[in-house]
This record gives sequence, C-alpha cells and structure tokens, in this order.
Amino acid sequence: MSVNLNDARCKELNEEEKYKLLNQVISEYNQDENNLIQILHMTQAIFSYIPLEVQKYIAKKMNMPLSKVSGVVTFYSFFSTRPKGEYMVHVCLGTACYVRGGKKIMDKLKEMLGVDVGETTRDRKFTLEVMRCIGACGLAPAVTINEKVYKQVNPNKLQKIIGEYQ
Ligand code: FES
Repeated sequence: MSVNLNDARCKELNEEEKYKLLNQVISEYNQDENNLIQILHMTQAIFSYIPLEVQKYIAKKMNMPLSKVSGVVTFYSFFSTRPKGEYMVHVCLGTACYVRGGKKIMDKLKEMLGVDVGETTRDRKFTLEVMRCIGACGLAPAVTINEKVYKQVNPNKLQKIIGEYQ
C-alpha cells in the first residue's frame, strides 16, 4: 500500500484533498468489496470519522449499495459516524472503577464538558467515551485522555486534568 496516512498530515488537508486521497485508497484496494473494512479504516484516518456523505461516496465508487457500507460502519464500534475531538476522554466503567466512583467521574465530566457519552465538544477539542477495564483496577477509577492514563481519579482532580488540555 503506497498511500501513507498520518494524523497530522490528514488534519491539514482540505475536503478536496481528502477525497482525492480517498480515491487513491479505493483504487489501491482495487475497488474490491472484500477490502471494504480496510478502506473504511483508511477513510476514518483521512476524515477522522465517516459521515454519511462519505459513505455514499464510497458506495458509489465501489459500485455497491449504501446499505452495505453503512452496515459495516455501524456494526463495528471502532468506526464513528460523528466527528471526534482532538482529545478522546475515556472513563472506565468496568466493575472496579464503577464501584469506586467511575459513574461520578463520568457525571462530572459530562457537566464540565457539556456533552453526553459519545459526543464531542463544540470546539472539537474533547470527545467523551466509556471504556471497559484497562487493567488498572488496583488504582481505580481510571480515566484516559488519548494515550495518557490517569489513576485514582476523583471529581475534584478533573478540573486540573482537563485543564492540561485547554
Ligand atoms: S475496572 Fe477500570 S481499570 Fe479495571
């Protein structure tokens, strides 16, 4: 595969350039239906999510029904049809984190960011998501922001944690 995608580069592209890159991806995968998942992964890397108009575009280019493309996008949780923020905030609601206050952390973050689970702040900075156990149960509750893990979080620490990214 010669198309080289990296997040930083894709963020700088305008819509036209993104579609151009998508065309390249589709043709390098030979417009083959069997490669749809790989194509969608690359699509998400280019657009950062897969909105309906992009799904329609792929369906047309690959000569397949939109329902097939949409079916795959909605089936797999790693595909998103909504824009994601620069920072992915994941709150662990696995058993250990839940019983040690994970729910309170989630409620506080919803209030602070003004979004519900799965939503992105208007400035596209933060997306709030739930995650399952990441193996930090001994230091629960855990929150991650992109790659960084925060342990033994409590609602009072959240302002400082989120502040690091504002
Ligand atoms: S339950 Fe949250 S890290 Fe294990």
